[in-house]
Amino acid sequence: MTTPDDYFFAITKSEPWSGLVNEWNEYNLKEGVDKWTEYGDDIQFRTVSSGDALCWWMAIEQMYKLPEKARDPQFIRFGPNSSVPIHRDPKSLAWIAVTIVGDQPIEFYNMDKEKLYETTYKFALVNSKQPHYCDVKGEERVLFRKIYTKTSYETLLHLLN
Ligand SMILES: [Fe+2]
Repeated sequence: MTTPDDYFFAITKSEPWSGLVNEWNEYNLKEGVDKWTEYGDDIQFRTVSSGDALCWWMAIEQMYKLPEKARDPQFIRFGPNSSVPIHRDPKSLAWIAVTIVGDQPIEFYNMDKEKLYETTYKFALVNSKQPHYCDVKGEERVLFRKIYTKTSYETLLHLLN
């Protein structure tokens, strides 16, 4: 039987750096890379490859001995007009994210697209192979997120505990 622990873990041992919002405001001035244009043409990615936000993230990586250090984290902005259906992430196995803007809940589903669970989070690990969905409800949503393509949710869960 699947429980929320199999796909969602709220990270409470560490606080996200409080300067991330200001950092995002700086990044927001630059043009992002459009992705997933099939979903409302309003989703942009900005890779964080230097600066204080990266330093904070690298300290977290070091503290929890997180793998896949070569890939930089990104800010992802889901615009008010974006709409991504229930999906499993094609590329990642799992991700760790900080909510920067927006309080819309993330919803989890089973393979029959029946809803299992919904939650909001500040800092969390998500199993992105579990079907999931977030209705932006016509409002902006921004995450600071690191994806894992070779490391399973279970392994990351273990490291974060
Ligand atoms: Fe996703």
